[in-house]
Amino acid sequence: MAVSYLILSWIAQALLFLLFLGFIAFLGYCLYIKHIHMKYDHIPGPPRDSFIFGHSPTFLRMMKKDEIIHDAFLEWVEKYGPVCRINVLHYIVMIVTCPEATKEILMSPKYPKDKMVYEKLFNLFGQRFLGYGLVTAYDHEKWYKQRRIMDPAFSSLYLRGLMGTFNERAEKLMNKLSDIADNKTEANMLQLVNCVTLDVIAKVAFGVDLDLLKNSSPFPKAIEICLKGMTHYIRDFFFQYKPKNRPFINEVKEACRLLRTTGAQWIHQRKTAMQNGDDVPKDILTQIIKSAGKEESMTTQEDEELMLDNFVTFFIAGQETTANQLAFCIMELARHPDILEKVTKEVDDVIGMKQEISYDDLGQLIYLSQVLKETLRIYPTAPGTSRDVLEDMVIDGIHVPGGFTCMFSSYVTGRLDKFFKDPLKFDPDRFHPDAPKPYYCYYPFALGPRACLGQNFAQMEAKVVMAKLLQRYDFSLLPGQTFDILDTGTLRPKSGVVCSVRHRNYK
Ligand code: HEM
Repeated sequence: MAVSYLILSWIAQALLFLLFLGFIAFLGYCLYIKHIHMKYDHIPGPPRDSFIFGHSPTFLRMMKKDEIIHDAFLEWVEKYGPVCRINVLHYIVMIVTCPEATKEILMSPKYPKDKMVYEKLFNLFGQRFLGYGLVTAYDHEKWYKQRRIMDPAFSSLYLRGLMGTFNERAEKLMNKLSDIADNKTEANMLQLVNCVTLDVIAKVAFGVDLDLLKNSSPFPKAIEICLKGMTHYIRDFFFQYKPKNRPFINEVKEACRLLRTTGAQWIHQRKTAMQNGDDVPKDILTQIIKSAGKEESMTTQEDEELMLDNFVTFFIAGQETTANQLAFCIMELARHPDILEKVTKEVDDVIGMKQEISYDDLGQLIYLSQVLKETLRIYPTAPGTSRDVLEDMVIDGIHVPGGFTCMFSSYVTGRLDKFFKDPLKFDPDRFHPDAPKPYYCYYPFALGPRACLGQNFAQMEAKVVMAKLLQRYDFSLLPGQTFDILDTGTLRPKSGVVCSVRHRNYK
């Protein structure tokens, strides 16, 4: 009895001591947050929701209501100016819209990607996700090594060679739309273009035929779930600790695993082909295998993981953003008959009745390029990027002590009146070849060394799909379609751009 009493009293004392330690640690942390506030509070920014959590309760409220976080940034930037402070716990994020600072920071290799966000994308809820792949690598040397090896798969010479696949996959969409037009059923354009871009990336990057317009596949859903999980994981610190979120978290981990095991299978098949001396394409998969080290089987576990990181990176980065751009573009054209007529006329003049679109044709579709650029101004499907700044800096005349993160949102700059007059007006003439070029306020593909590797790939693919669509079909939005945006980290049209489709006089 006495012994158990003694043990219980020790446990109670130990607990009390732990509680005391916890309290001291908490007090220390609060003092640290106070210090951070004093260091940065001279920089304009909205009032904090909470001393500890800073502005994150606003983000969580917006996420719950399915609102777009970048709209809050836009409102704050309009109110507080080109350097706007945000607090999240002890982290300081500056939303920067000042073009000079944007140029200085994004164009320089000196400022690494924001560790807090990109390190989190290494895994999702404990399951490795993008790891140290090209998008998330923040160590400059490691990133540079991969990027150098990957570059040839995006050279203009190599991209020209992809025109056949772009045409062939877009043609499958045209056949599908032909059935839809004949049967007078509705076309969910977002879903359809998603199938095309996933088909294209699987074929040209990994040499695999998915043919998603005919076959069902778990991949589109898996990508969607990973992105949704990613948004919660990054924006809500406590999401993973709430028991009610367990089923969803398991779904996210399962989706991640599916993508990685698929990658492992496809990489294994390719390596076997390489070892057998078979003729393999010099595609993204070959470069991924090279970038991880050796082509033989003597790769380390970490090499294997890096290959899978890049597999998932290209599977997602190479598909979703382009599909969303296409869907937004169709949505805006359906809304603006005058612009639709003008771009259709250009396609008729350049392509006529031709079925196979050539690389040179793309260069002549100038107004279509403007339409696609304007689409990404209002709807930058990958809306932002961020960099860590370790040293003191003066931004727009304000002294900012080092140790903060700079957030650049193309969504915000694209919708600021001071950069683009009447910003919500869809006006492709803003990108007329003779119009002044936007000065560091339009960067849907980011800028500088960490800019999108697939920009030309994406815009070639988008042009081929749009040119064929405009050549063959009239389309209009069905009643009930909204023009709302869904923010899942990337941006997509909420209603899916459901259209009715009719044949044009194309034979
Ligand atoms: C409309 C389509 C696309 C948009 C709007 C877009 C946008 C972006 C943006 C904003 C970044 C910077 C991300 C960051 O800083 O976190 C990025 C990076 C990247 N994108 Fe894209 N992207 C598109 C299509 C593609 C395609 C088709 C591919 C590949 C086939 C691709 C591959 C990449 C890669 C590998 C990176 C990382 C580059 C690096 O850090 O070296 N993207 N993209």
